[in-house]
Amino acid sequence: MTSIRQAAATLAAAGVASPLYDAQELAAHVLGCTRMELFLRTEEELPEEYEQLVARRAAREPLQHILGTAPMGALELEVGPGVFVPRPETELLGAWAAEAVRAMGVEKPCIIDLCTGSGALACYLADALPEARVTAVELDEQAYSWAERNTQRFGVTLIRGDVTDPRVLPEIVGEADAVVSNPPYVPEGTAVDPEVERDPHHAVFSGVTGMDVINEMVPNMVRMLRVGGVLAIEHDDATAALVMDVLRVQGVLTEITSHQDLAGRDRYVTARKTSE
Ligand SMILES: C[S@@+](CC[C@H](N)C(=O)[O-])C[C@H]1O[C@@H](n2cnc3c(N)ncnc32)[C@H](O)[C@@H]1O
Repeated sequence: MTSIRQAAATLAAAGVASPLYDAQELAAHVLGCTRMELFLRTEEELPEEYEQLVARRAAREPLQHILGTAPMGALELEVGPGVFVPRPETELLGAWAAEAVRAMGVEKPCIIDLCTGSGALACYLADALPEARVTAVELDEQAYSWAERNTQRFGVTLIRGDVTDPRVLPEIVGEADAVVSNPPYVPEGTAVDPEVERDPHHAVFSGVTGMDVINEMVPNMVRMLRVGGVLAIEHDDATAALVMDVLRVQGVLTEITSHQDLAGRDRYVTARKTSE
């Protein structure tokens, strides 16, 4: 019978970045408890299924695909093959946007999440701001069906659409208090971990510079925003300057600011629309 310690050694040998954490999460999953509760169940034998799950993880299948869920802040979202697994750094952007909208003191804020994937930012913001009207847009059919499962319980309006198309959400003109996006942004050809290769290609990569979707999406974000509204875009750690440039050339945005993730890398840019 494989113990958590043996499983962690197997995962470490396979190059998994957080072997002990993953071994514990898989054990908690098969025992139907939380990772913290494992410490009260140290005498318990792990079922045979555990060894199979550890082997899948050692083959670098993403932990979240095996568990069937991924955290987004305090939320657990359903994920699996066909949808991008939400990453912890995106919570930072979500927390920034929630705070910015709260500070506006608007009664029923209008929030748009472009490239919603599993619905991560839309669900996070709908949960943080229950009075908000949140709309999410996703192009890909498979991702859209994952988003459907997740967004339903938060009352998010989900739209199938292309965020680079000027006709996306045509009814939203000068109305949104916040438009957020974690779009595909990795430069094509960048080497990525085996787990990232399991994310859909079009969810991760976006042209030679990683800017293809962002460049086309920004004018739509600006059109949707009301004067005083804010936007936030997650980006590749090498493209903060490019994102800030594309925001500057819109001519109506100020407070253009680069933010870093917990590892100190440039991760998202925010701005406010201050004129029509
Ligand atoms: C990096 S993933 C992020 C998903 C989600 N926002 C998150 O943080 O977990 C980017 C998402 O954008 C979607 N996407 C790519 N191009 C798009 C487009 N032109 N219009 C709408 N969605 C698009 C992909 O299918 C994918 O779900």
